[in-house]
Amino acid sequence: MKTLKDLNIDNKKVIIRCDLNVPIEDNKILDNTRIVKSLKTIEYALKKASKVIILSHLGRIKTVEDKEKNSLKIVSKELSKLLKQDVYFCTWEEDINKAINDNKIILLENTRFFDLDNKKESNSDEELSKYLSSFGDVFINDAFGTCHRKNASNVGISKYLDSCNGYLVEEEVNNLKRLDNPTKPFTVIMGGKKVSDKIKLIENLITKVDYLLIGGAMVYTFLKADGKEIGNSFLEPDYIDYSRKLLDEYRNKIVLITDNFIELNKCVNINEMSKNDIGYDIGVESVNRFKEVIDKSNTIFFNGSLGFVEGGYTYGTKSILEALNKDGKLVVIGGGDTVSACNELLKNNSFIISTGGGASLEYLQGNILPGIIEE
Ligand code: 3PG
Repeated sequence: MKTLKDLNIDNKKVIIRCDLNVPIEDNKILDNTRIVKSLKTIEYALKKASKVIILSHLGRIKTVEDKEKNSLKIVSKELSKLLKQDVYFCTWEEDINKAINDNKIILLENTRFFDLDNKKESNSDEELSKYLSSFGDVFINDAFGTCHRKNASNVGISKYLDSCNGYLVEEEVNNLKRLDNPTKPFTVIMGGKKVSDKIKLIENLITKVDYLLIGGAMVYTFLKADGKEIGNSFLEPDYIDYSRKLLDEYRNKIVLITDNFIELNKCVNINEMSKNDIGYDIGVESVNRFKEVIDKSNTIFFNGSLGFVEGGYTYGTKSILEALNKDGKLVVIGGGDTVSACNELLKNNSFIISTGGGASLEYLQGNILPGIIEE
């Protein structure tokens, strides 16, 4: 893996691809972790390079309306605040070379705005890659959260410029490597809503782990496969058979919930769910079952909230975070939403916090991350 030690950036125009894809609501950044984690490389570049040009995506851009709520302008303000120096925010319509000339550091607008034109960013379009690379002399990829994507602003640019990985990517990969040969028992806790995204990853992880604890909205597809009444809880019908197959084969490793909250103060056993009930969080008994496994585990990877945290269903996720926060365990937290939940629910913790949910999961299933720049 090429790191900053391998790239001379002295007095050069440096393009840094960061992952500044932070959660924003009502024009406010809800969690600035990804911005904070990007500072080390940016500060290093500010000391050595003549110019620093930052790129990032924000959200997913499918329509013209998406552009308005996914501008990086608000992120540039936060970055300025954290760096204690002006960061010039530059739109794609401006004279970008002039902006680079006039400023020490600029943040360009969301790279995914180019997705409105034949998904040029997400498909790593050659012309766009070349255009983006024209703004600098060298390239640093520090967007760990996007390393599983082959985009113009990471893989594309690196074809045209001398490139290396930044400090964040280096640190993230080194942390995940610690899970390659985990001190056993190794437990993965999985939640969140993106069931279809994760079910296939589970299949790959299941051979490596001792236990797989499943909560969040995704658990209801497993419960349905297990013959349980799940009422109107979130379900992906197309994955029921698949979940059943996994349960049949790995029943000894998979731990499902046995009770859940169907209202903020109403916890019921899964066997008592009625047709109109919706499960929003793992229940008291389930938390205790999960804790038993956690207590005997040495290495744990946690991805995805266990309940509908945004709706106030924090009990399960908070309880499990507290159970994980013990000396002597290697605990890795992955995924933007999980990190936000962690920052909100258990600020003082000793976890290794990954900024890339998708990227870290891809890595954990043994896939090559195309964004990582090799020798
Ligand atoms: C993330 O939030 O996981 C990264 O920023 C990548 O975003 P994406 O899943 O929209 O590509």
